[in-house]
Amino acid sequence: MFTASHHAAWRHVLSLSRLREGENVIVLGAQAGRNQYKSIAVQVARELGGEPAYLEVENPNRLPKSAIPALRSADLLIDLSHAHDPLIRQLGQDGVRTLTVLEPPEILERMLPQQSDKARVDSAQKCIKAARKMRVTSAAGTDFEVALGELKGNSQYGFADDPGHWDQWPGAFVTTYSNDGSAQGQVVIDEGDILFPQKEYVRSPIKLLIEDGYIKAIEGGVDAKLLKATLESYNNPEVFAVSHLGWGLSRNCRWDALSYYNKQDVEGQDGRGFYGNFLFSTGPNLSGGGSRRAPLHLDIPLMGCSTFLDGVPMVVDGVVIPEDQRV
Ligand SMILES: [Fe+2]
Repeated sequence: MFTASHHAAWRHVLSLSRLREGENVIVLGAQAGRNQYKSIAVQVARELGGEPAYLEVENPNRLPKSAIPALRSADLLIDLSHAHDPLIRQLGQDGVRTLTVLEPPEILERMLPQQSDKARVDSAQKCIKAARKMRVTSAAGTDFEVALGELKGNSQYGFADDPGHWDQWPGAFVTTYSNDGSAQGQVVIDEGDILFPQKEYVRSPIKLLIEDGYIKAIEGGVDAKLLKATLESYNNPEVFAVSHLGWGLSRNCRWDALSYYNKQDVEGQDGRGFYGNFLFSTGPNLSGGGSRRAPLHLDIPLMGCSTFLDGVPMVVDGVVIPEDQRV
């Protein structure tokens, strides 16, 4: 049973997601998942005039044929399972809006998205689209450069309003993918920066030496050794590739949030969306329109970085600079 304020939060986010009278809504859960929002998602979708149904599958990363007609019928998919089946991307191409919801209730409410978040994220994505070079530096030693323009980026702002848009409540940030093979330099993951999916704060700096789009060496103490062991365990060079890059624009994120939860109870949108972070990542580039598959994807938000597009500052020492991206 959820509080009235939590119920109001669902109404707010499904309204921002433009849930209209008569729309088909599929709420997707996984058999082994907690699916804690299945009732409230269905209830609020019905209150707003939608035609909701709850669908639970054994493995959301391999959706069964029997589930496909229902999923294809959706106007809005509310995904409580974080499905990674390729069908989800296909549904997006066919216009289905997807809203993923995983975080605990108090994080959903604290980071409640607003319409204005979309405008700020759109402004940032416009800058990315126009740029041909991204450079990132930090006092910890990051000095890293990539070429842009061949692949597309993704925007998240916490609701799924436009046809085909995939989003997650909560979190506002922009990403893009570098031109294949263009990433050069070093990224220093400093003390207190975060590794996902490990959901761990780094305790000793990790230096990533990057050449021609791939991590070529990993230097540092125990955290560097653990990261190296993880990447090497896949015996697949593509896990060392640079994946999406961008910066956080969420209001009301808490960098320390992860330290208060058991790992299975939290997803980590506080870190990914943290206002003024640099979000570095490794592995695939499929969702940018590239062809690289990889069996592992790491998201690594870094604090206190400076990010420049064609020399124009977007973030300086963790502070968002352009007026139309600022809170
Ligand atoms: Fe990612």
